[in-house]
Amino acid sequence: MQTRTFLLWIAGASLAVLSLAPVVSTQSDEEHGEEPELAIAMSQLQYFTHKLALSIEARNAELARFYLHETEETAESIRDGIPEYEGMRIGALVGSMLMPHVERLEELLANPDWDAVDRALATAVDSCNACHVATEHGFIVIEFERGANPYLQSFAPRAGG
Ligand code: HEC
Repeated sequence: MQTRTFLLWIAGASLAVLSLAPVVSTQSDEEHGEEPELAIAMSQLQYFTHKLALSIEARNAELARFYLHETEETAESIRDGIPEYEGMRIGALVGSMLMPHVERLEELLANPDWDAVDRALATAVDSCNACHVATEHGFIVIEFERGANPYLQSFAPRAGG
């Protein structure tokens, strides 16, 4: 019972963080000169990219398309909502460095050749890291940890589709 309450609490807390992200990524508190919370938007991008990778690893096209869509929406909200951050042109870089890979994955997942999907995902993640280097955050390194699913969720395709 206690564990259950605790897990629900965790789920609630993560939901609260996620539901905040779209707000912070599009609003800035201009009166106080604060910049939008890019790190929170990035954590949302990491979250959906991670679940996308787990769905692809499980060869679950339906779920992978869902998480790619969420990844794309998050990337678009950064591209359109955070043009600049600490003097760096974040929006334009997301548009030029990341979006082409997201679009390529979208084409491939329509009718997946999984080896090609694996390569496109790896290239997409390379672009995350390339942009971190380009924006003086090269110490943030995104990498896959194969076979490790940390979520209370199955990524396996459903029996019978
Ligand atoms: C515009 C280039 C750019 C692209 C493209 C980009 N990032 Fe980032 N990312 C940044 C910057 C800049 C920061 C530091 C934000 C800050 O200083 O608050 C960051 C921070 C992060 C963080 C740290 C926040 C946290 O929750 O720990 C993570 C994780 C992250 N990015 C993941 C990703 C992933 C995953 C992708 C690709 C799907 C990606 N990023 C693509 C520029 C980028």
